[in-house]
Amino acid sequence: MSILIRNGRIVTAESDYQADIFIEGEYITAIGQALPFQAEREIDASGLLVFPGGIDPHVHLDMPFMGTFSSDDYTTGTKAALHGGTTMVIDFILQTQRDTLRSALTTWQQKANGKAVADYSYHMAVTDFNDAVAKEVVQMIEEEGITSFKTFMAYKGALMIDDGQMVELMKVVREHGGLVTVHATNGDMIDALIARHRAEGKLSPLYHYLSQPEVTEAEASGRFCDMLHYTGCPGYIVHMTCEGALNAVRKAAQRDQKVFVETCSQYLVLDASLYEKDFEGAKWVMSPPLREKKDQKALWSGINQGLVQVVGTDHCPFKWEQKKMGENDFSRIPNGHPAIEHRMELMFTEGVRTGKISLNKFVEVTSTNAAKIFGMHPRKGTITVGGDADLVIFNPEKKHTISVDTHHMNVDYSAYEGWELTGKCETVLLRGDVAIENGQCLLAPGSGQFIRRGKTSLII
Ligand code: URP
Ligand code: ZN
Ligand code: ZN
Repeated sequence: MSILIRNGRIVTAESDYQADIFIEGEYITAIGQALPFQAEREIDASGLLVFPGGIDPHVHLDMPFMGTFSSDDYTTGTKAALHGGTTMVIDFILQTQRDTLRSALTTWQQKANGKAVADYSYHMAVTDFNDAVAKEVVQMIEEEGITSFKTFMAYKGALMIDDGQMVELMKVVREHGGLVTVHATNGDMIDALIARHRAEGKLSPLYHYLSQPEVTEAEASGRFCDMLHYTGCPGYIVHMTCEGALNAVRKAAQRDQKVFVETCSQYLVLDASLYEKDFEGAKWVMSPPLREKKDQKALWSGINQGLVQVVGTDHCPFKWEQKKMGENDFSRIPNGHPAIEHRMELMFTEGVRTGKISLNKFVEVTSTNAAKIFGMHPRKGTITVGGDADLVIFNPEKKHTISVDTHHMNVDYSAYEGWELTGKCETVLLRGDVAIENGQCLLAPGSGQFIRRGKTSLII
């Protein structure tokens, strides 16, 4: 199949120009003005933006967590992602403590094989590190193309590793060209605050927020940076929410360390006042929690300062019935919220249209930097001859409203109900196939491919 996209305004992280794009099979084979080619299909993109398919490097699909499973599986989650202009996701494999990375990989392959509609890769979460796991880390990098290793400094007893294990993991990962990523919050402090609030009968969602004050994230982020400094390993902090944590990274940058930072769209546009809505606040119970307006400001500035390189979602949806597991105790509310579908359009409306970030920066943080950091550039994350034809044709003036009635995620409420957006992903291409058109997904489960990743690029 060949496709010719005519007259779009092509926006990448570095450029912004008018041209045609010629696609043959899965790849872009020519870019230029008035291309003299015949294609099986022509798409007129006059007046529209064309940017690289979004990459969301932080999603949880069909994940066992807090006694239940996140409600989007690989089919519903990646389909919703495509509707929102995200053509690739990176999900998290969770090692079961006292079990192998290999068996966790097999479990996640079964979740995705034949089911993914968009492309995907995995981070491997190491929840139990020892000499045998160290060997498997090398296998993951060299044989499986899984080059990033997730760690948790919280969720003790299920996912957390201690600092001794962290340092040993960092040494192996550094030696083999990978990247250590982290959920950086101080698990012991948080567990103590949760226990105190429960003992005092403070059980509403507000106390989820009050059990994870800013210092818990700032302290752990600083500690993680110090361990990276000691081992010489490159690192990536996921879902950063606050000024204090960002300042810890600022300090690391001053000593020339490479610590990448991801924030998520919710931390840029929502704040902790939502926890004052009694049990409805459970919709936004996530870890770390939403923060304050001053933190939103720090994060937007951090993006423009180059301290925050990536905006993901931490998409981890639960249906209302699942959230109600914590109706009488905030510590039993499954953590996470549905967002995979809205990231690109929210960032365009709230970031680009308000003048907080440029269009180029928008592409950089929603696609290009993730492709570079996670070893997929320039195949993904840009618009270039030879690259995958993962493209979004975007109408910057189209107004629409987020609602549970129209979203495609498998969840029975919206965390953004009634939010008005200007700018819509009208047509989305995945490796040369039209994936989304006229509000419909045209691809079947199994269209999404596992993408083997290379080593981390430290130059972004
Ligand atoms: O609340 C969250 N973030 N749920 C998913 C697990 C995690 O910590 O990322
Ligand atoms: Zn996390
Ligand atoms: Zn997460």
